[in-house]
Amino acid sequence: MQTLSVALLVLAARVASGAVTKRVTCATGQTTANAACCVLFPILDDIQENLFDGGECGEEVHESLRLTFHDAIGFSPTKGFVVISSGGGADGSIITFDEIETAFPANNGIDDIIDAQTPFIARHNITPGDFIQFAGAVGVSNCPGAPRLQFMLGRPVATAPSPIGLVPEPFDPITEVLARFAEVNFSPAEVVALLASHTIAAADHVDPTIPGTPFDSTPGVFDTQLFIEVQLRGVLFPGDGSNPGQVESPLEGLIRLNTDASLARDSRTACIWQSFANNQAKMQAEFRAAMAKMAVIGQNTAKMIDCSDTIPVPKPVVGKPHLPAGKTMNDIEQACASAAFPTLTADPGKSLLRKLDGNL
Ligand code: HEM
Repeated sequence: MQTLSVALLVLAARVASGAVTKRVTCATGQTTANAACCVLFPILDDIQENLFDGGECGEEVHESLRLTFHDAIGFSPTKGFVVISSGGGADGSIITFDEIETAFPANNGIDDIIDAQTPFIARHNITPGDFIQFAGAVGVSNCPGAPRLQFMLGRPVATAPSPIGLVPEPFDPITEVLARFAEVNFSPAEVVALLASHTIAAADHVDPTIPGTPFDSTPGVFDTQLFIEVQLRGVLFPGDGSNPGQVESPLEGLIRLNTDASLARDSRTACIWQSFANNQAKMQAEFRAAMAKMAVIGQNTAKMIDCSDTIPVPKPVVGKPHLPAGKTMNDIEQACASAAFPTLTADPGKSLLRKLDGNL
């Protein structure tokens, strides 16, 4: 009896302090902490069914995640003009001014996902800026091993396009890439954390003879394999030879970007890169934090509502950090000067690249 009264007292104190929030049940039957977030559930159901093929971690998810970046990074306090009323950055300008921004060389191929997303924006009450970040967060939740991303609602419609030249290219020198990110207040460690995105990614346009070639062997899983496989010695070009921004990859069926390879080997970023190689929890936490920052670049968060509880909870990671079959620790190019690359064992079996049907 005494235990029960103590429990009731504790509960009353938590309610009074706001620690226990009353949840709202929306018309769709789903619950959220804030009634303003209810508008997102019909959009969630629609995109899971009709954009992401019933909740897969496939091509549309990969492209939607890339789009969150290409919209958000289009912000510069020094270059071009920034329209204060919309803030620039993660403002949906890549869709509102798609004819201008899709013509930027760094946005090559982004028109496919813009075309796929536009009808969803048209049939729901949501701005392009909010939709891009919401679709990215929902899409990532379909990938086993991903963190549950934050989602803030409330980006106004963009009133101007991004200036050209703000999206990094894979052939850019690392000093330039880090400077570009520093301009929007991202540290080298946060840049590497954001690159975890390339664990669920493929390239269509780097070598157009081999569209859909992934950056790691498990593009349907948000695991740490990218951080392992990019550290392996490059030995071949998987397609028709070297293209701008491409360097040799360690295996047939994988493509490697110069920027990823350099971030893994540069003294400013190699140790943080290596620290993710067999640490799923660290990678998840730091990717989540960096994405939360990126998704609101140029926005006034004081005017936004936290609707993160509308994002589905991702499934746990599948598999363990490993070297691809046929590789040994001798194939790892040690780059971090202060700690050894974690010792990993090779995947058994002959297959060099496990193709995940429908996930490329
Ligand atoms: C140094 C910075 C970066 C560079 C140079 C870069 C470059 C690229 C390139 C060249 C592609 C291949 C596009 C194609 O040929 O289809 C790609 C794909 C991709 N990127 Fe990045 N990226 C960077 C950072 C990021 C960030 C910060 C994110 C997200 C947070 C991201 C997410 C993706 C995704 C998900 C794909 C795969 C798209 C698909 O499979 O269709 N990238 N990136």
